[in-house]
Amino acid sequence: MNTYSADSHRYDNTPHLYNRCGLSGVLLPRVSLGFWHNFGANDPFERSRAITRYAFDHGITHFDLANNYGPPYGSAEETLGRLMDEDFLLYRDELFIATKAGYDMWPGPYGNWGSRKYLMASLDQSLQRMHLDYVDLFYSHRYDPQTPLEETLQALVDVVRAGKALYVGISRWPLEALKRADEYLRAHDVPLLIYQGRLNLLDREPQEEGILDYCADHGIGFIAFSPLAQGLLTDRYLNGIPADSRMAQGRFLKQDRLTPELLTYLRQLQTEAQAQGRTISENALRWILAQRGITSVLVGASSVEQLQKNLQCITPCD
Ligand SMILES: NC(=O)c1ccc[n+]([C@@H]2O[C@H](COP(=O)([O-])OP(=O)(O)OC[C@H]3O[C@@H](n4cnc5c(N)ncnc54)[C@H](OP(=O)(O)O)[C@@H]3O)[C@@H](O)[C@H]2O)c1
Repeated sequence: MNTYSADSHRYDNTPHLYNRCGLSGVLLPRVSLGFWHNFGANDPFERSRAITRYAFDHGITHFDLANNYGPPYGSAEETLGRLMDEDFLLYRDELFIATKAGYDMWPGPYGNWGSRKYLMASLDQSLQRMHLDYVDLFYSHRYDPQTPLEETLQALVDVVRAGKALYVGISRWPLEALKRADEYLRAHDVPLLIYQGRLNLLDREPQEEGILDYCADHGIGFIAFSPLAQGLLTDRYLNGIPADSRMAQGRFLKQDRLTPELLTYLRQLQTEAQAQGRTISENALRWILAQRGITSVLVGASSVEQLQKNLQCITPCD
């Protein structure tokens, strides 16, 4: 480990790097860094560190985590905790760190979904793993049809009142539940900061279902996860399935996604991108950022080089 001192030019791109998150006071980088993959205990720590340092050195101030990112569960948060101790302690107030609870985390009836019991305990555990006193943003990771919506939302209000989170968000909630969440949280003086949903050239559900428009019309930010469709919207799979790729792992990105139709579409995207002197991934991210209501694209990266390429999407067009 060599001592880290952040690049003194990291905010030189400021005018075009940040978007206001809805009608809040918060600015978020138009590209944010996700810790779902590549930051677990089984990933090389020095690589995770290099990616995180590169991000921060380029003005990427928003890191997105969840209780169960790893594997094993919790280990991405532990990686962040070590990075906070060793690299980012001095920079805590320059970082906007999010975590979530909503999916399977620990055994038994209280380690999943949307109860107050689960959300409260999970956030306490997350703070311990990340060595933080508070998170900037705490999400309900998914809508729980079995738990009264008010119970989940009141837990979000209360974590803010307790000083454990500064803002709250929801992820993957259906439109009708989003509307009720917006009203409830607004009425309790903890307005919904942001909605996190999957949006990319291959999956436009939040747009088609009216979620993006609702957020834009009601001053709520929107952050697009898996903006590269887990790597499909890059040149990664144009010539087969690389051994070190997410698809080769086969856990979350299955080989049957790579159909002849998709490959034809990707080659068409590549031809278009090359004609513009760009890459598929750069254009895929630019497309999202051009949609109404978008605050940020939440990318993943398994190398510094990938992140570097993805940041091309925020350079102004000629
Ligand atoms: N709220 C939710 O339910 C939810 C769900 C999923 C994700 N998320 C959040 O969204 C974040 C991003 O999701 P994601 O990792 O699926 O995003 P993504 O950006 O669509 O995919 C990232 C993967 O694509 C490949 N890649 C990235 N840039 C590349 C490039 N320039 N060239 C070639 N390949 C490239 C890498 O895969 P290889 O490993 O193959 O190199 C990388 O790990 C997560 O970390 C998490 O924070 C949230």
